Amino acid sequence: MSVPRPAAVVVLAAGEGTRMKSQTPKVLHEVCGRALVDHMLAAARRLEPERLIVVIGHDRERVGAHLASSSPDARAIVQREQRGTGHAVRTVLEEVGTITGTVLVTYGDVPLLRTETLAQLLEQHAADGNAVTVLTAVVPDPTGYGRIVRDAAGAVLEIVEEKDASPQQRAITEMNSGIYAFDGLLLADAVKRVSSDNAQGEEYLTDVLSILREEGHRVGAHVASDHVEVEGVNDRVQLAFVRKVLNRRLLEAHMRAGVTIVDPDSTWIDVGVEISPDVVIHPGTQLHGQTRIETGAEVGPASTLTGTTVGEGALVRNAVCDGAVIGPEVSVGPYAYLRPGTVLGRAAKVGTFVETKNTTVGERSKVPHLTYAGDATIGQDVNIGASTVFVNYDGVNKHPTTVRDGAFVGCDTMLVAPVTVGDGAYTAAGSVIIDDVPPGAIGVARAKQRNIEQWVLRRRAGTKSAKAAQKAIEQENGS
Ligand code: UD1
Ligand code: CA
Repeated sequence: MSVPRPAAVVVLAAGEGTRMKSQTPKVLHEVCGRALVDHMLAAARRLEPERLIVVIGHDRERVGAHLASSSPDARAIVQREQRGTGHAVRTVLEEVGTITGTVLVTYGDVPLLRTETLAQLLEQHAADGNAVTVLTAVVPDPTGYGRIVRDAAGAVLEIVEEKDASPQQRAITEMNSGIYAFDGLLLADAVKRVSSDNAQGEEYLTDVLSILREEGHRVGAHVASDHVEVEGVNDRVQLAFVRKVLNRRLLEAHMRAGVTIVDPDSTWIDVGVEISPDVVIHPGTQLHGQTRIETGAEVGPASTLTGTTVGEGALVRNAVCDGAVIGPEVSVGPYAYLRPGTVLGRAAKVGTFVETKNTTVGERSKVPHLTYAGDATIGQDVNIGASTVFVNYDGVNKHPTTVRDGAFVGCDTMLVAPVTVGDGAYTAAGSVIIDDVPPGAIGVARAKQRNIEQWVLRRRAGTKSAKAAQKAIEQENGS
């Protein structure tokens, strides 16, 4: 059976989330590179609802602004005072009017909930012709949740909140996930009649279920096959738990698609990351944002890539890469830091203890050791010697440096920008290059060396150095 398209998905997210003890509203906390509320919206969106609605309240400016950019297809409706889940739904219907068709109600803090589970809820709701179908789960510890009260035949009678429950009802282990499929017309009518005469003085959405049942409508439950899916986030312990579960799901999807993940326990991958088959991810690696890795590449160990592209067959070891474009067959690291604007051409190398920023390295060019390259344009087949610094900052402004094709920059060169090293030009080791070096020339910019004979014998007499020197000089004279 195909999944009936809901008329609306309503995501409740107005609560404060006090137990997070955070300046950040709970639903904006991130797991796997996406805010909690956006995980829910992503799962809901795949059901192709006619409307996507989020109820916001606490810190609504921030949550509203976030949603406007992350989920422009969702309509935010403000619930000024949080007077209960029933009040939240009533507020929505007062704002948008009665919704005909199926209305799915869910929460902004259940990021593990999968579209498949919501689809099963909708299927059962339609197949049974229910007025309301609640998603439930049997859990090891139902403390804090509403309990599903059934009759002897197993039919759902009502949902009782923990604070209102009798000791026998508290012993029930089938909990209310808080997620429901409703008939929109019946919901609109019933939600107006929910009272706040209960232990918390709130309008409970759960009461809609008993109101409808008492009026002779069909009321049902769909039991989730995996209770972990309906677990919400209330504190940071649960935040860490859902992050681990979601990460594991993402890793498994990549592994099934042909990616080798050597150590899933130490690998963290955001939802937006794309990885081609036959990529190997080594332990201790984190892939964030819109990172993309092409086939045959190896990333890790101990590498953190954010918004970075890694080309086919490239090797990235012990590196931190932010907003970099790494070409095919490139070698990065170990111990490299690629900052935004770094573009490495095919078969280039950025080696050990090298930092790059806003820098292009041409095909087959090498920056192998101990170098800072900032605001640099490096051509093809260039060799940058160890300890080269692209001196791009004069204390006020940043300036560019160009090193053209085939150039050879000697070790410990300071390239004081703005400056250009021409095609095929050299710089002598230890030079401070402040003027352009023409094509094919060598730039030499260092003091001439002078040796003061016997200085150590005179000024450091008796030291190990003096003794070694003495011995060498005697041997030279003796032979
Ligand atoms: C609710 C259910 C309970 C269920 C549990 C599952 C009711 C009365 N109880 O309890 O049966 O087991 O969820 O987690 O519905 N919210 C609003 N506006 C409000 C109140 C809440 O938007 O006025 C939002 C909250 O942000 C939250 C969700 O609704 O995302 C649930 O609210 P919460 O107060 O946590 O309900 P529970 O007491 O946990
Ligand atoms: Ca809750």
